Amino acid sequence: MKTIIEPFRIKSVEPIRMTTREERQNLLKDAHYNLFGLHSNDVLIDFLTDSGTGAMSATQWSAVMRGDESYAGSPSFYRFEAAVKNLAPFKHVIPTHQGRAAEAILFSIFGGPGKNIPNNTHFDTTRGNIEASGANGHDLVIAEGHDPANLHPFKGNMDLDKLEAYLVEHGDSVPCVMITITNNAGGGQPVSLANIRATAALARKFGKPFFIDGCRFAENAWFIKEREEGQQDRSIPDIVRDCFSEADGMTMSAKKDAFGNIGGWLALNDDDLAEQARNHLIRTEGFPTYGGLSGRDLEALAQGLTEIVDEDYLRYRIRTNTYIIERLDALGVPVVKPAGGHAVFIDARAWLSHIPPQQYPGQALAVALYELGGIRGCEIGTVMFGAQPDGTEKPAAMDLVRLAIPRRTYTQSHADYLIEVFEELAQIKNSLRGYRITKQPKLMRHFTCQFEKL
Ligand code: F0G
Repeated sequence: MKTIIEPFRIKSVEPIRMTTREERQNLLKDAHYNLFGLHSNDVLIDFLTDSGTGAMSATQWSAVMRGDESYAGSPSFYRFEAAVKNLAPFKHVIPTHQGRAAEAILFSIFGGPGKNIPNNTHFDTTRGNIEASGANGHDLVIAEGHDPANLHPFKGNMDLDKLEAYLVEHGDSVPCVMITITNNAGGGQPVSLANIRATAALARKFGKPFFIDGCRFAENAWFIKEREEGQQDRSIPDIVRDCFSEADGMTMSAKKDAFGNIGGWLALNDDDLAEQARNHLIRTEGFPTYGGLSGRDLEALAQGLTEIVDEDYLRYRIRTNTYIIERLDALGVPVVKPAGGHAVFIDARAWLSHIPPQQYPGQALAVALYELGGIRGCEIGTVMFGAQPDGTEKPAAMDLVRLAIPRRTYTQSHADYLIEVFEELAQIKNSLRGYRITKQPKLMRHFTCQFEKL
């Protein structure tokens, strides 16, 4: 059959509320044109994030009932730990309430003034935690990763020449090497197994621990199976294990590829680092057998980890994005190609070329999508990445709008509605105007800054 259907049926539903365009215009004004400021029940289709917004399965909900809430030594923890180790065979698994808590712990150990930490592209919370410690983060993704139209199959790959030069230049100030799978900030693009291995080998050559930000490891493994030579006949869990066996540790947001509404972990092989991390965890998150989570959360994640590697699910998951991208492409909307794992990225700088980067074309498009169709996406561009540590601003590498697709939550008719909203937008796009930031915090301004329409 040509049609790849949603490989589930619906047992429980959540109504969504229709609003009028006029209502949305007022809501936008009240939120100072920052979509993070909207109430979610004023949003028709919420593509703000794929993080924690997925639908849990009936089996996950029944596992929730089994949650044991003991402070220390809960069997729920041991089931969670076994499920993580089955895919990511690290010696120590330290549960946290979400991914950024794992990052905060990791960079409380590895960060600090004068330190330099490379990644293919740091996600915003990763960069935030690095910079809050006084260290610097650098993005060394391959050049193809910055070209939205380039069809390279692994646009999340680390630029190995740049990494080697970086390790020579920064020497002892580099505490670890990181890679993010998939490369969220660069369009949800995958990293090949060969590139993970080569990055790990370079880190080893320079004596640096190698960490994977594994948020979307299953989607990344699906791309490896589909696109990398010699991987077609391998199982997803085997590919996942191969990726993680290259690393000395990982950070994880279980709100993505563990089908959780909350959760995360830090995993490590080194005993001393693990002890430091657990001491920090006890101070900030909780006892090491629950971290920042309840026993029932740990159960939901243990079950979720068995479901996320299902090939029927992954095939449908990636097909959803490809479908939307093919339709937008046919409309002449510039999209990041090929389709990424968790989201559709629109090249707002190219589509709204009359709006210069420092008037935030991504923000203009995200606001217009909400005003016209009640759809909430997220600017990933100069608003998110343009602010410099010295208080100035420069254009980000790209100005994208991300429509992140929650897992198992929306259906094909929601996708078709989205395409229709773009058809309407194409008619009026030249009348859209840019924005000016009127108020912003020092770090991670995109969450709370306020805008004025120009
Ligand atoms: N790393 C990556 C690659 C991420 O995408 C995220 C979260 C995190 C770390 C932090 O994890 O949210 O559990 O603390 N990304 C979400 C997103 C928020 O919308 O892309 P967290």
